[in-house]
Amino acid sequence: MKGLILSGGKGTRLYPLTYTRAKQLIPVANKPVLVRVIEAIRDAGVREIGIVVGYTAPEIEDALGDGSQWDVALSYIPQDSPDGLAHAVKISRDFLRDEPFVMFLGDNVIEGGISKLIIDFAENDWNSQIVLKEVENPEAYGVAQLRPDGSIERLIEKPKVPPSNLALVGIYMFDRHVFDAVDAIRPSARGEYEITDAIQWLIDQGHTVYPHIHRGWWIDTGKPTDMLEANSHVLEEILPCIAEGVTIDAGSTVDSRVTLQAGARIVNSILRGPTVIGQDTLIENSYIGPFTSIYHNCQIRNCEIERSIILENSRVIDIDHTLRDSLIGRNATVKRSAVKPSGIKMNLGDHSTLWV
Ligand code: TTP
Repeated sequence: MKGLILSGGKGTRLYPLTYTRAKQLIPVANKPVLVRVIEAIRDAGVREIGIVVGYTAPEIEDALGDGSQWDVALSYIPQDSPDGLAHAVKISRDFLRDEPFVMFLGDNVIEGGISKLIIDFAENDWNSQIVLKEVENPEAYGVAQLRPDGSIERLIEKPKVPPSNLALVGIYMFDRHVFDAVDAIRPSARGEYEITDAIQWLIDQGHTVYPHIHRGWWIDTGKPTDMLEANSHVLEEILPCIAEGVTIDAGSTVDSRVTLQAGARIVNSILRGPTVIGQDTLIENSYIGPFTSIYHNCQIRNCEIERSIILENSRVIDIDHTLRDSLIGRNATVKRSAVKPSGIKMNLGDHSTLWV
């Protein structure tokens, strides 16, 4: 069995962060989502992994290399333009050959890993297995209609009247028949080769497609609010630890659910977990509340932060109000200005949002 991770795409819903960074490399609980995906596939026993990459290929290859750091072998598969998930399968044929494979969207985070799924697929003679999740708003997703024997009868993209509340999650397993399917389908109205059309083609040709109904949480980190939610879930799951070389002064209180990475410095501050503070980050005269991830080389001074993600080399200094539910990119500065006349000043990137 091989793995295929889809890491091309545009990431428009995460502008402005994704102007300068591949969305799959944005960290959740201080680890890029893409690394979480690689680890989930590896932990299920699959070590040969292809990564479909688009215009952010250099950045992704730079971050992941040959994969040996995670004990996997990575191959990069360039996709000239993001023409759809089925198109990504089509261009990966040389890498996949005729082996069965698990395909994972590189921006999805799922509770509990995928080992059980891989075992189920290996033990049955299904042509495909897809993952479904009960959701409250199925009309926003690809939705499955099941037969009485539990197999999939039909998949409908964003139906006005959903036949069930079972939405398609970004994890799929296929055998070689999927290549016939991706060759047979045509682009959809939005101009993409849709994976739902390829799966529907398999069903229509009499191939068996079975669902796995996922009971834990699953998040497609498409929008900033999704990133914050995924961050909260993952922080709740990780085992807290304090790395070597961390300093906590006598005036600080750090509760037992806080993770401090190497070289973090905590001065006269209160930290309540689950929270993670990155390498060489300084927290001074501040309160860091639950569900916050502050990445490497940041400076947080004289402020209060809750349920937020702050990326590397950023500074948040002398802020009177609690910073909450916020996503701050790399090398950013949020600071009180002492210069008169007073007022709110900003240098915001395109597609930024500021709530005051
Ligand atoms: P999407 O979230 O559907 O697309 P996107 O990344 O372009 O984001 P947005 O809608 O905000 O512009 O993609 C899901 C995952 O699949 C993501 O990791 C990107 C990847 N992908 C490809 O690798 N190739 C493709 O052709 C498409 C459409 C997506």
